[in-house]
Amino acid sequence: MQAKKRLSEAVMRRLPRYLRYFTELKENGITKISSSELGEKMGMTASQIRQDFSYFGGFGQQGYGYSVEVLYDSMKRILLKEQGFTVIIIGAGNLGTALAKYNNFHKRGFDIIGIFDINPKLIGKTINGTEIMSIDRLEDFIAQHETDIAILSLPRSETKAIAARVANAGVKGLFNFSPMDLKLPHEIPIENVHLSDSLMVLGYKIKNFQEEK
Ligand code: NAI
Repeated sequence: MQAKKRLSEAVMRRLPRYLRYFTELKENGITKISSSELGEKMGMTASQIRQDFSYFGGFGQQGYGYSVEVLYDSMKRILLKEQGFTVIIIGAGNLGTALAKYNNFHKRGFDIIGIFDINPKLIGKTINGTEIMSIDRLEDFIAQHETDIAILSLPRSETKAIAARVANAGVKGLFNFSPMDLKLPHEIPIENVHLSDSLMVLGYKIKNFQEEK
């Protein structure tokens, strides 16, 4: 791979989508693809795709198109870690439980190693084989188990304080579901995920679509 150029946020956000498409191509037994075919599938121009790939040395396009295997392996290496990422979930309510049960995270290399809650009725139970521990054990657990990511599925009022605790304890990134755009003074990456934002965009599109008809 060539020396890395700094990726724009827009390119970065396209990478998981590329990996999804490369996975699908591989599963369908397709071994070669050109940038224009890929562009057609993904609703992008061929030049946009080649430009994105140039950040990573171009992925060795030869003759007719790219090797799907090379694209898939390279994108996996760019996005994921060989040994995977360790994840804890904080807040084992409706959302935390659903996330803990979602096996696709594991398939993508995100391993849930601990779940925490404050509710004594939940502590000691397991979800998908992982024990729910008391939030009081948070720092000790992180000190003993290298933790890459904390998923925050807590009430909004609790989120900032817990986020600061996990960041201070050495967690490397936060996946925040609480309805706020979480920012911390600590320099760690945060992804804020708001399903209702996406739903509202859909609502807006539906309204406009109806009006245009
Ligand atoms: P819930 O009430 O079912 O679960 C919250 C859990 O957090 C409870 O088990 C509670 O005991 C625990 N908790 C409260 N304080 C805590 C603390 N200090 N330490 C550890 N655990 C604590 O709520 P639900 O439905 O699971 O939602 C969780 C959060 O996710 C809410 O903030 C909600 O608004 C948000 N949410 C966000 C979505 C999104 O798309 N971003 C979608 C759904 C929910």
